[in-house]
Amino acid sequence: MSKSAKINYICSNCGYESQRWLGQCVECKEWNTLEENFEEINKAIASSTPARTYTAAEFANKQSKRQLTKISEVDRVAGGGFVDGQVVLLSGEPGIGKSTIVLQILQKMTASGVASLYVSAEESAQQVALRAGRLFSKSELDDISIMSAADVETILDKITQEKAKFVIVDSIQTMYSSEARGLPGGVSQIKASASKLVAYAKQNDVVMIIIGQVTKQGGVAGPKLLEHLVDTVLELQGDEQRGLRVLRCLKNRYGNANEVGLFVMTEKGLQEVTDPVSFFAENVKKASIGACKTAVVEGNRVLIFEIQALVVDSTYSLPKRVAEGIPRSRLELLTAILSKHGRVNLSNKDVYINVAQGFKVTDRASDLAVISAMYSAIKNKTIDSKKVAVGELSLSGNLQPPVRYSLINNETKRLGYELLAGDITKGSPLTAILKNI
Ligand code: TYD
Ligand code: MG
Repeated sequence: MSKSAKINYICSNCGYESQRWLGQCVECKEWNTLEENFEEINKAIASSTPARTYTAAEFANKQSKRQLTKISEVDRVAGGGFVDGQVVLLSGEPGIGKSTIVLQILQKMTASGVASLYVSAEESAQQVALRAGRLFSKSELDDISIMSAADVETILDKITQEKAKFVIVDSIQTMYSSEARGLPGGVSQIKASASKLVAYAKQNDVVMIIIGQVTKQGGVAGPKLLEHLVDTVLELQGDEQRGLRVLRCLKNRYGNANEVGLFVMTEKGLQEVTDPVSFFAENVKKASIGACKTAVVEGNRVLIFEIQALVVDSTYSLPKRVAEGIPRSRLELLTAILSKHGRVNLSNKDVYINVAQGFKVTDRASDLAVISAMYSAIKNKTIDSKKVAVGELSLSGNLQPPVRYSLINNETKRLGYELLAGDITKGSPLTAILKNI
């Protein structure tokens, strides 16, 4: 670092800038997230974006011309295909299938006549080609154009030369810009590389998918910074041990956010789950003790799946509360509500909750199903497999309809299910519902 270079500090979590180093970020309150940032990067980025004015009509035309990937679950999540110049951040845990899904999208794009390029800095071109060999037939392999490089300036030259209009960058944490300092993966490098890629995509109408690794804490390294820069944020979730993969849209400047796409990982890559009802229903046709079905809204679809509970005598001084697929804090709250309003003693019981197929639920619509599954396990009674438990619980033990309750209600009826608690729009006490189990 030369003494003349002006340094300030930037938070790798939220992007907050400070003149001096601080142990804790004053914005997001995270500790040890401030890293050195060099002002010349900002200047370099600013000079790469030309100042010009646009008419709104120029963009209206662009928006109406969406590029479909023809993988319907991806198109659904992307809000009906990609728009020219759209930059997408795809994040997910290592090994979840990010490189696989983008390779499948790339093949479809090339096959439909869009010049595409896969830039990999994580793996060699040969490794990407080997993966492609597993996924595609011999004739389809011609569609895959791969480049292994980490230097952003070289990559942008190559994209121009190849006239590529669809580009994958795998991953941003391994990219390097000669105009920035620090190691790849550091906040200065991520900021500089991502800004250059985004500016290029916008100027040249290139659709770009940038892969972001997630850190151990579950966030994308340099998360907020990247999320602000891109148009769309997608996350690939799932359980590495199990097949289900969920592609979630967390932000979309060009369409509806909150959509989800469902896939299963097979030996031939990610296959779409186009009929989630039979997918989730497959293993759970029979009623069993400690199991209860629930329905939640994801995007515009209603998904019905099973919640399983195991309640056993505890040998620990502090009984266990283990939650797979729902937040643990929610489980703790629901066990407290069940103890009080279901009149059962859970102070000496371990409670384990699992969501079928490794699905992760954040929707409170499944509160009643979690409670009912626990109650079923405690009382050794089965719940009719045609019954679906839907409802949020208040601390006072009252059931409340979740958001979009009427959609859940209509869809469950259409599929031949019945609501466990009946109509809850007028509020229903939990005690009365549990009596009927
Ligand atoms: P990958 O796409 O490399 O994950 P990421 O880029 O998110 O780190 O996929 C990793 C896993 O997927 C790997 O453990 C092997 C598995 N896999 C399959 O099961 N089937 C396949 O066809 C492919 C290509 C991968
Ligand atoms: Mg990968």
